[in-house]
Amino acid sequence: MNEEMKVIIVAGARPNFMKIAPLIRALSAKREAQSEKYFSWKLVHTGQHYDIEMSEVFFQELELPRPDINIEVGSASHAVQTANIMTQFEKVCLEEKPDWILVVGDVNSTMACTLVAAKLGIKVGHVEAGLRSFDRTMPEEVNRLVTDVLADLLFTPSEDADKNLLKEGISKEKIKCVGNIMIDSLVSNLDKARERRTCEKFNLKDNQYAFVTLHRPSNVDDKQTLSHIISCLAKLSKDLPVIFPVHPRTKKQLTLYGLWKKAEKITGLNLIDPLGYHDTISLVDNSRFVLTDSGGLQEETTFLNIPCLTLRPNTERPITIIQGTNRLTSLETLERDFDNLLNGNHSNGKIPEFWDGKTGERIVKILFDHSQGESNAQI
Ligand code: UD1
Repeated sequence: MNEEMKVIIVAGARPNFMKIAPLIRALSAKREAQSEKYFSWKLVHTGQHYDIEMSEVFFQELELPRPDINIEVGSASHAVQTANIMTQFEKVCLEEKPDWILVVGDVNSTMACTLVAAKLGIKVGHVEAGLRSFDRTMPEEVNRLVTDVLADLLFTPSEDADKNLLKEGISKEKIKCVGNIMIDSLVSNLDKARERRTCEKFNLKDNQYAFVTLHRPSNVDDKQTLSHIISCLAKLSKDLPVIFPVHPRTKKQLTLYGLWKKAEKITGLNLIDPLGYHDTISLVDNSRFVLTDSGGLQEETTFLNIPCLTLRPNTERPITIIQGTNRLTSLETLERDFDNLLNGNHSNGKIPEFWDGKTGERIVKILFDHSQGESNAQI
């Protein structure tokens, strides 16, 4: 181990940025409180997402420092993207010689950097460990499995995740239930988001519109599926305006299938560019309900007590259904589920334990206690 503990934090894609912000804040606070300077950290951006709306706006709004190292891998097939991240990140690790890397979530960058670090003998902390959809057709599920089997510390958001890891034979000592890191960012940005009143910019009234995001390959990469979803949204928009910030993958597929121009003409269906963090939270917070296939939105709606329909056959976040406001939906049940929500048929949820805005602090404390324990053991 270096005399000074060196940490590398990895981020690559949109859902990573709100997860690293609380970690960086907690690390900075720790450094300020520390009389001796015995640790340092660097931020690596793999560039999996690179557009202003998919990356830069989050750095500004979440007050993230500029990345120390940009890998700029960009888009490619999974194998090519993963391999490019690995090749570049190996160079970073050989140069920087970190003691720890911290990875978050389940994107290709999470898995690629974990693989590199594990082979170089660098310790890995995985934030948001243990989530399982039990559906290996999802690229994210493969990323989660590989990352968790290799990580040295597994920071979980809820007890169900601990149980998944224990069942997979991960030792209990490595598993730390710390709560939900996304919620840290939500708690610290909620006032700013609410001040925005973003719905007014789109001529929408409080509680009188639905907020939609969809980008999973299973929903957007098949013409029939995507076309069915658009026709359900067209029907919904006759009763309730819909605002739909369109992910680049979804826009590409809508255009490819000749659906984009048709969808743009539907009255009441507002297709807009991807939004920043504050505008997204503001719109979700004031909406009647949300339709999504995103992981983060299932959690944010649970925290905000906004009804959420998740257009997927499963979720790796069952606590949002058991305790929160989330319900699964499908192409077959979507219209009926919309009707139910329009008729006010939904129940309130509760906020799960440790979704309290303090997860970043807990992680940093555990990381330091762990490393301290290790250096004491070496003496
Ligand atoms: C990725 C993550 C997913 C996460 C999602 C959030 C993996 C396997 N998937 O999926 O877990 O929920 O991000 O957004 O890591 N594109 C742009 N601009 C960008 C980024 C992407 O135009 O800044 C385009 C790409 O060219 C590509 C498409 O969007 O055609 C999809 O991007 P990609 O990185 O393949 O995966 P996502 O679907 O975004």
